[in-house]
Amino acid sequence: MDSDTNARLKRTAARLRELLGPGGYLDQPADVEPFVVDHRRLYRGATALVALPDSTSQVAELVRLCAAERVPIVPHGGNTSYCGGATPRESGEEILVSLRRMNRVRETDPFNDSITVEAGCILADVQAAADEAGRLFPMSLGSEGSCTIGGNLSTNAGGTAVLRYGMMRDLLLGLEVVLPDGSVLDQLRGLRKDNTGYDVKQLFVGAEGTLGIITAACLRLYPKPGGYTTAVVALDSPRAAVDLLAGLRTALGDSITTFELVPRIALELVCRHIEGASDPFDSPHPWYVLVEVTLPQSDSDLAQRAESALAASIESGRASDAVIAASLAQRSALWQLRESIPEAQTREGASIKHDISIEARRLPDFIDECAPLLTRLVPGARLVAYGHLGDGNLHFNLSGPECANGHAFLERSPEVKRLVHDLVARYRGSFSAEHGIGRLKVDELSRYEDPAALELMRRIKRVIDPLGIMNPGKVLGELQAGDEDGDGPPPR
Ligand code: MLT
Ligand code: ZN
Repeated sequence: MDSDTNARLKRTAARLRELLGPGGYLDQPADVEPFVVDHRRLYRGATALVALPDSTSQVAELVRLCAAERVPIVPHGGNTSYCGGATPRESGEEILVSLRRMNRVRETDPFNDSITVEAGCILADVQAAADEAGRLFPMSLGSEGSCTIGGNLSTNAGGTAVLRYGMMRDLLLGLEVVLPDGSVLDQLRGLRKDNTGYDVKQLFVGAEGTLGIITAACLRLYPKPGGYTTAVVALDSPRAAVDLLAGLRTALGDSITTFELVPRIALELVCRHIEGASDPFDSPHPWYVLVEVTLPQSDSDLAQRAESALAASIESGRASDAVIAASLAQRSALWQLRESIPEAQTREGASIKHDISIEARRLPDFIDECAPLLTRLVPGARLVAYGHLGDGNLHFNLSGPECANGHAFLERSPEVKRLVHDLVARYRGSFSAEHGIGRLKVDELSRYEDPAALELMRRIKRVIDPLGIMNPGKVLGELQAGDEDGDGPPPR
């Protein structure tokens, strides 16, 4: 760090300590440590100070102070990013802004079916607040006990109920954002209809903190379910799974909230590594899906229709077998088989992860084409392709060969990713369906994104963040806003 940068950083940190007061910041190495290492332990950054503002006005003031000294800012939620999106860089030149103290539910409005919450609210707490008000907040993720609404919005999180309710973007009604100059964009309203020009709030969804800091949001609520029909269905192939989904949708419409693909190997890993997990069937099957139908309070016949539709799929040969949960405990046990796949795969050893999407009906062809190419590229590697088939989104992960050297396997990562992502591009799919870009996929974005879209993103970044202080290096990479060659501040 050069002496000028160091001096600006020191001045800013001193002003921030004054602004935020005791309890409003952390600056001791042991306290800062959990904020500078990402959840997957891919990156270790550094920061002079973790700011813990507790109001929008404090966030606005701290951004103004940082902008005046051109000190970069890294917004931080629950630290559950898969792509290092909330981890500061190694230089230590950035101030980290954690929203964890901004965790109030500002309003729950059952009449408008909306809830207004601050960015630092933990997702599970928002679900609980909605439940208390007799409503459902449907976003559901493995990390819901620690991820925050600001992070969910900043990465446009997905999860296991997207099929019915959409991604975070679809659940958003209104937004409050502190912009990179410290001004506040106040679109915090619960309107269902608002055609007044460009929908600027949506720019901040999926921007991963590169355009501003989300401080609060108004989110959509739904009627509370009357119950669930939850089943694991055994199948011969991903093609059979796609056909099953089409049949179930015809019979049950959009009451199907979850349709998750699980290959045999994932079930085996879960049974091997996760305490209490067991195969729900007597004999092995090559593929499974976890299906959940959400039953409305008002339609007591739907459970019966869901069970009949599953039975019909077995009779017609579309599915081989099915286990339907008969109690809440059984429902949790079936969900555990799906939700603990990431943990089981981690315990199994080194893995190379992908988060791809392709139109769902083409996914079976993709799997058939990609799997043999991967086996040829890394003999012995084990494909663990699981996830949100109903959304066309799979975690197309590769575990190393049994007993292989994990380090040597991970060194193959660039070739493996290139193979998978090139094929995804041929299918006109996405290399990042729900985990975002962060720092991990910056090169992929510049390689695979439509050049016109990439250029528009750069221009938007330049206009909204002309000093380039918001989460630099993430999403669009090291490019300085306003200067594509990266060697000077932008013209103002
Ligand atoms: C999941 O769907 O389980 C997560 O998005 C992906 C993962 O943890 O690998
Ligand atoms: Zn996922």
